Amino acid sequence: MTDASSGRPLVELQGISKHFGEGETRVDALRDVSLDIYPGEVVALLGPSGSGKTTLLNVIGCILVPSSGSMALDGEDVIRDGVWLRSNLRRLRLDKIGC
Ligand SMILES: Nc1ncnc2c1ncn2[C@@H]1O[C@H](COP(=O)(O)OP(=O)(O)OP(=O)(O)O)[C@@H](O)[C@H]1O
Ligand SMILES: [Mg+2]
Repeated sequence: MTDASSGRPLVELQGISKHFGEGETRVDALRDVSLDIYPGEVVALLGPSGSGKTTLLNVIGCILVPSSGSMALDGEDVIRDGVWLRSNLRRLRLDKIGC
């Protein structure tokens, strides 16, 4: 990704939560994750099995919609309150991020 020269991080997560299932089978994979990654930073994501690493990368990679929270990529707001702001997710992945 390129820096949009906005001074904003390349990846901005605010209050991202993701749960799977409901009721007794509900799993809270991510709870209120906030994270900024700036141009040039190299970030490693560490945690035990089941701690939500893949779920987080799938949200950042625009593959999985979070249950709540907001995300911006390269200065562009792409998820607000758990809702995609762009309808064309393939275009979004092509433009903004690859994994
Ligand atoms: N599609 C899904 N449906 C239901 N539960 C899921 C789903 N995907 C992930 N989970 C649950 O969410 C939690 C986080 O899973 P995730 O795969 O993100 O963990 P991880 O840190 O990547 O684990 P690992 O180190 O084993 O790869 C786990 O409890 C997992 O069982
Ligand atoms: Mg994983």
